[in-house]
Amino acid sequence: MTIFTLTLGICNLLFLLSKAFSTDTLTFSQSLHDGTTLSSKDETFELGFFSLRNSTNRYLGIWFKNIPVKTIVWVANRDHPLKDNSTKLTITNDGNLLLHSNNNTVHWSTNTTTKPLRPPILQLLNTGNLILRNDDDHGNNEEKFLWQSFDYPCDTLLPGMKLGWNKKTGLNRIITAWKNWDDPSAGNFTWGITFDSNPEMVLWKGTSKYHRSGPWNGVRFSGAFGGSNRLTTHPLFVYKLVNNNNDEVYYSYRSINKSLISIVVMNQTLFRRQRIIWIPDNGTWRLFQTAPRDICDTYNPCGSYANCMVDASPVCQCLEGFQPKSSETMDLSQGCVRSEPWRCRVDGRDGFRKFVGLKYPDTTHSWVNRSMTLDECKVKCWENCSCTAYANLDIRGAGSGCSIWFGDLIDLKVVSQSGQYLYIRMADSRTDPKDAHKKKALLLIGTTVAPTVLVILFAILYYYRRKRKYEEENVSVVKNDKVVGQEDSMELPLFDFATIVNATNNFSTDNKLGQGGFGPVYKGVLADGQEIAVKRLSRSSGQGLTEFKNEIILCAKLQHRNLVKVLGCCIEEEEKMLLYEYMPNRSLDSFLFDSTKSEILDWSKRFHILCATAGGLLYLHQDSRLRIIHRDLKASNILLDNNLNPKISDFGLARMCGGDQIEGNTNRIVGTYGYMAPEYVIHGLFSTKSDVFSFGILLLEIVSGKKNREVTYPHHSHNLIGHTWKLWKEGTPEKLIDNCLEDASILSEAVRSIHIGLLCLQRQPNDRPNMSSVVVMLSSDNELPEPKEPGFLIDRILNEEQSEFRSQTSSTNEVTISILNVWLGVYGFSDFLGLSKGSRF
Ligand SMILES: *[C@@H]1O[C@H](CO)[C@@H](O)[C@H](O)[C@H]1NC(C)=O
Ligand SMILES: *[C@@H]1O[C@H](CO)[C@@H](O)[C@H](O)[C@H]1NC(C)=O
Ligand SMILES: *[C@@H]1O[C@H](CO)[C@@H](O)[C@H](O)[C@H]1NC(C)=O
Ligand SMILES: *[C@@H]1O[C@H](CO)[C@@H](O)[C@H](O)[C@H]1NC(C)=O
Ligand SMILES: *[C@@H]1O[C@H](CO)[C@@H](O)[C@H](O)[C@H]1NC(C)=O
Ligand SMILES: *[C@@H]1O[C@H](CO)[C@@H](O)[C@H](O)[C@H]1NC(C)=O
Ligand SMILES: *[C@@H]1O[C@H](CO)[C@@H](O)[C@H](O)[C@H]1NC(C)=O
Ligand SMILES: *[C@@H]1O[C@H](CO)[C@@H](O)[C@H](O)[C@H]1NC(C)=O
Ligand SMILES: *[C@@H]1O[C@H](CO)[C@@H](O)[C@H](O)[C@H]1NC(C)=O
Ligand SMILES: *[C@@H]1O[C@H](CO)[C@@H](O)[C@H](O)[C@H]1NC(C)=O
Repeated sequence: MTIFTLTLGICNLLFLLSKAFSTDTLTFSQSLHDGTTLSSKDETFELGFFSLRNSTNRYLGIWFKNIPVKTIVWVANRDHPLKDNSTKLTITNDGNLLLHSNNNTVHWSTNTTTKPLRPPILQLLNTGNLILRNDDDHGNNEEKFLWQSFDYPCDTLLPGMKLGWNKKTGLNRIITAWKNWDDPSAGNFTWGITFDSNPEMVLWKGTSKYHRSGPWNGVRFSGAFGGSNRLTTHPLFVYKLVNNNNDEVYYSYRSINKSLISIVVMNQTLFRRQRIIWIPDNGTWRLFQTAPRDICDTYNPCGSYANCMVDASPVCQCLEGFQPKSSETMDLSQGCVRSEPWRCRVDGRDGFRKFVGLKYPDTTHSWVNRSMTLDECKVKCWENCSCTAYANLDIRGAGSGCSIWFGDLIDLKVVSQSGQYLYIRMADSRTDPKDAHKKKALLLIGTTVAPTVLVILFAILYYYRRKRKYEEENVSVVKNDKVVGQEDSMELPLFDFATIVNATNNFSTDNKLGQGGFGPVYKGVLADGQEIAVKRLSRSSGQGLTEFKNEIILCAKLQHRNLVKVLGCCIEEEEKMLLYEYMPNRSLDSFLFDSTKSEILDWSKRFHILCATAGGLLYLHQDSRLRIIHRDLKASNILLDNNLNPKISDFGLARMCGGDQIEGNTNRIVGTYGYMAPEYVIHGLFSTKSDVFSFGILLLEIVSGKKNREVTYPHHSHNLIGHTWKLWKEGTPEKLIDNCLEDASILSEAVRSIHIGLLCLQRQPNDRPNMSSVVVMLSSDNELPEPKEPGFLIDRILNEEQSEFRSQTSSTNEVTISILNVWLGVYGFSDFLGLSKGSRF
């Protein structure tokens, strides 16, 4: 897998030679010959000469000493290869390193101007940093280093290394990819930090931007996918962006578990930045994260004021209130313009609309002030007619700081559902006149030089009264490029804690209906006799109160006959609860997988359940305007009402509680193994198509009456998917149909359903139909495409305890989950299952 692999012979040779010369320092009088090495004190890193594959060029570099796959993390003379092995590394008395031949031809040197006080010492630190220092200091004080390799990175970012600027010296540390496999010289794919008021990480292809992280919002890079805004650490890594005004601005990371070896490498072949992790048991590096991860993650794919959604059609969509620039061709890559004419500082023609979860736009033309409040920020933007948007610089807590943008806003996209708000200037006919007065009141505060105390008092009072109103009204969320929640401020009944305690008999175990992924569920009876189900959310959901409320209000708006109705919620300090209508018939799995009750479900009922569930899912994906991906669709989440009508439950919860992601990949997989799509399990990528995959499994379970997991078949080790595929290839899909359905008349409909199920289970998300097609397929006799081999044929060994991995409170569990994710990639799903049979890692 790695490009750095050398033949084992060379490794061994180096190893033997290193025995002869193993220390971490080189003094002034010594030199390092080709064939000798320096090792860091803890033996993690090694410095020496090497060649790549069958090239004879020699390089001086640093690699991991104990990793058998030769992984070069730094090359001194990447652009000046040595032609033979007669070169030596020496230290000059002016404090420089020199690579020179016997005849004194210099091939490479450091160019420091700092003069050493005494003869300097070269040392390879445990971090992989090669430093030149005065002999009296002990390698602890970075300020005193004469030179360090961390200041001149190659293609690899090691933990603790700084990516970015030293503002005092103008030093810029950037990462540059190797040209290719066996040429470490600088390619044209680079990664660095922009040097402006609002720094962000950018990948460049040559001189053009290729991907940007979005500016840091106090919690994460604003372009990182994520729901919760409390997340400052990744379960495996801690990231930070340090920006002190006059000294430095840099990004760096470290592993939480010191024994986890990880690096970030720029890959010129793929044009990807890859975070990889060493898996010792397997002896390979494993890809952990990658950027950009899809077309929408590259720089500005859609032009100005547009949102990019990978699985939408078209991929580019204008934000609410904007329309395609080129209306004739509907070419959205050209970007969008305001639908209504906008005139600066004219009431009703100038206002701001709040967008939630948008990646902050390109910061090239932006301005920041750390101490301004959001309201001062608004005034600042309103006053300048080239200002097009404003936002909080730091979204933590109530938000602070001000960031404003000038000119068209580019490289936008919705990345999360909460936490991060961008206020875009546009003609807002809905801006009510009172709001305009508020602006004036604010302006008054902001600009008047000597207002009377009375005026100030009045204005402040007025402002606070308005502000409260404003905040209450402005529950707005951008999903699927629509702004919802502004037009009607729907009220969701709030229940107090005492009521719930009474209704559920103080959460007694007798009342417990089950344990869902997001917390236990209790049955309750309200004072008026109404039966309810109460879901008590785990305290760890890591979400602010406002966002939680917003989310619930959104969920309450989801009204569909095949979704469980949300009756209200209860929020009291740590407690967050959702109240649903109570379903006496419990869930589909209690019928389907029960030998007696399954007979109640005849084919027509089952087919109805299929079609109705598909309808509910389609509504979530598309018709609800909110584009909700369920992420945990399974038989136990399909509840049945008195007439056995299915109702999907737990929708929106995944969004509320599970969306912790950084840099593209989900680090917490929410869902249930056995129902999860391959791309989700292995790479943490989810989309509506992952729900389609889960639906496919549900469909096969309904037709067969068997669980995907936990069923063994004679003669082969496949799961339900594998079994179905085998029968399909053998031309006998009807053998899958549940025995209790014996009736020839259902055959064609049932076989057609199996066919649709296989289409939903295709390995590649693009090969799967979307839910609207599934609904059409189920209700018509149109010809269906032939299915290819589905994903995940073997996985039946898991038991229930192992199969449910959820958001957990304790960080050790989070590590387990994330490493698990990596391991899954390493071994492939089936191998992992074999492995994990005995114990959890
Ligand atoms: C780039 O990625 C490819 C494919 O994963 C891999 O084979 C290659 O080794 C990578 N190159 C570098 C420099 O990591
Ligand atoms: C240097 O290279 C020559 C031939 O290429 C080889 O014989 C010699 O052993 C090498 N010396 C070292 C120290 O590797
Ligand atoms: C070694 O070099 C030869 C000739 O340049 C080339 O054909 C071959 O592919 C190279 N082998 C490797 C492993 O790169
Ligand atoms: C010194 O030796 C190198 C090879 O080690 C050779 O390329 C170079 O031409 C030599 N320079 C002189 C001045 O002899
Ligand atoms: C050192 O500086 C010289 C001249 O300024 C330049 O030619 C050389 O490339 C520099 N070397 C390094 C390693 O930066
Ligand atoms: C970058 O380098 C590759 C080859 O290494 C070349 O094909 C490509 O055109 C270059 N791109 C730019 C933008 O310079
Ligand atoms: C760190 O990882 C190693 C192996 O990966 C494991 O044995 C150790 O328990 C972990 N330590 C912590 C504190 O999680
Ligand atoms: C930032 O805002 C504060 C408060 O409004 C103000 O006092 C300060 O002068 C501003 N700084 C800059 C650089 O504009
Ligand atoms: C508006 O902002 C732009 C960009 O910072 C600046 O050039 C211009 O002078 C400002 N205009 C006013 C009226 O402040
Ligand atoms: C590592 O896992 C891969 C499959 O994911 C396997 O092909 C390979 O042989 C394993 N390597 C070792 C050293 O076990």
